[in-house]
Amino acid sequence: MTDNITPAQAVAAPAARDPNRVLIFDTTLRDGEQSPGATMTHEEKLEIAALLDEMGVDIIEAGFPIASEGDFRAVSEIARRSKNAVICGLARASFGDIDRAWEAVKQAPRPRIHTFIGTSPLHRDITALNMDEMAQRIHETVTHARNLCDNVQWSPMDATRTERDYLCRVVEIAIKAGASTINIPDTVGYTAPRESAEIIEMLLERVPGADQVIFATHCHNDLGMATANALAAVEAGARQIECTINGLGERAGNTALEEVVMALKVRHDIMPFTTGIDTRRIMQASRLVAAVSGFPVQFNKAIVGKNAFAHESGIHQDGMLKNAETFEIMRPEDIGLASTNLVMGKHSGRAALRAKLRDLGYEVADNQLGDIFVRFKALADRKKEVYDDDLIALMQESTTAAHNEIVQLKSLKVVCGTTAPQTADMTLDIDGKSAETHATGDGPVDATFNAIKALVPHELRLQLYQVHAVTEGTDAQATVSVRLEKDGRIFTGQSADTDTVVASAKAYVTALNRYLGYERAGRPGVDITSAAS
Ligand code: KIV
Ligand code: ZN
Repeated sequence: MTDNITPAQAVAAPAARDPNRVLIFDTTLRDGEQSPGATMTHEEKLEIAALLDEMGVDIIEAGFPIASEGDFRAVSEIARRSKNAVICGLARASFGDIDRAWEAVKQAPRPRIHTFIGTSPLHRDITALNMDEMAQRIHETVTHARNLCDNVQWSPMDATRTERDYLCRVVEIAIKAGASTINIPDTVGYTAPRESAEIIEMLLERVPGADQVIFATHCHNDLGMATANALAAVEAGARQIECTINGLGERAGNTALEEVVMALKVRHDIMPFTTGIDTRRIMQASRLVAAVSGFPVQFNKAIVGKNAFAHESGIHQDGMLKNAETFEIMRPEDIGLASTNLVMGKHSGRAALRAKLRDLGYEVADNQLGDIFVRFKALADRKKEVYDDDLIALMQESTTAAHNEIVQLKSLKVVCGTTAPQTADMTLDIDGKSAETHATGDGPVDATFNAIKALVPHELRLQLYQVHAVTEGTDAQATVSVRLEKDGRIFTGQSADTDTVVASAKAYVTALNRYLGYERAGRPGVDITSAAS
């Protein structure tokens, strides 16, 4: 973290900036949330934005205000609450979109409008604009945005598949119309590191006024090169990286914040750039985003995966004991990972629980601690030893369950065994009213899901049902993930319990609550491909 540069200086015009300072633009709440099934609630978005702001993200893309009432409300509230970060709202190349984005971000101490249009031949076809018409549209919309806000970012969507001469032409138009950040999206994850660098070099060399703006790199990970492409762009002169926590995002995702930030930190010797990120908050951010998005982090994910710092083989363990640097290029503490795995149990008190949670990266308010402590005790009663992973599962569940309570599981009794059919007796609280049923099924989980469907009839299709043991042993908690689908829209739920069937029921209910919340909000959504609507 660079102590001598304030965030305001970092985002300032190039002449006033440290030339090696790279801005981190986080789009977890916009591009990340666009990932099918990653829909977040209002409160969850506020919680993520607050953490991003605290950890030193320079620009938070808080959402796409025209997309829905919910998006607008979230961006406005994030703007109002923001402290240091610039708050950015996305808008297509239309006055209506831009006005709506401005309405949402204008209450931020430091607002930004981000407007974009697809410039590649494929996108020009979709929008039915020829090169000249599109150029005119860019001039008009960036000018309009600039008349509202003095911080405007412009993106030629699918830039890496846009003819180079045309790319130079439209970037020049956007700069002349007043954009101070030019973002170069690799929308479909098509580019490779050398090409990513060449595009930035070309723009800096050929476009008049290029030295007066900040170039950003926005990469998708379809070929697994998003991190490499972003770093190559920085080496070529880009000074803003657009990324998401855990690499969340459509298809294979976006550049992962934790990867680019840690790469710049660990390999400062060959990439002498700095960011303003407090890297010790990375694990906390990763866990929060995994919990609210319902997208678990793969075990071998760089930086934040469960195995990223695990050393199983004898040779590695021996080396680690003698000198950690033999097999570790960064310390777990650098990303906020507690280096101990002290076991908690039923005799552990509130103070110990709070300290342990702090070690794990969770700051718990007094009013939350009571509820978490009760659940911790219930878990410790069933399980002799409570490990870090058990507490993380418990915290992830309280993060996702707290805001979605249209339906709540009150009780469940399942009969299973060699004699079919298996049965489930269930009581749910639905909108404050208690309802109960008896259902049968092909196995205890099937009977449980049938009971939920009988009590809350719906047409969602179960697309994924996955069970993971959180720790080892027969008393281990199981984390269950459920993915439900309707009309191509996905709703996910996750839950942990020492009883796998109870965890399954709770995960299903969480996904169902997300669907019900979406229905009640009037099915928000907008098609981002029609970028010039
Ligand atoms: O990937 C992309 O092109 C985008 C734009 C809207 C910037 O996300
Ligand atoms: Zn994108």
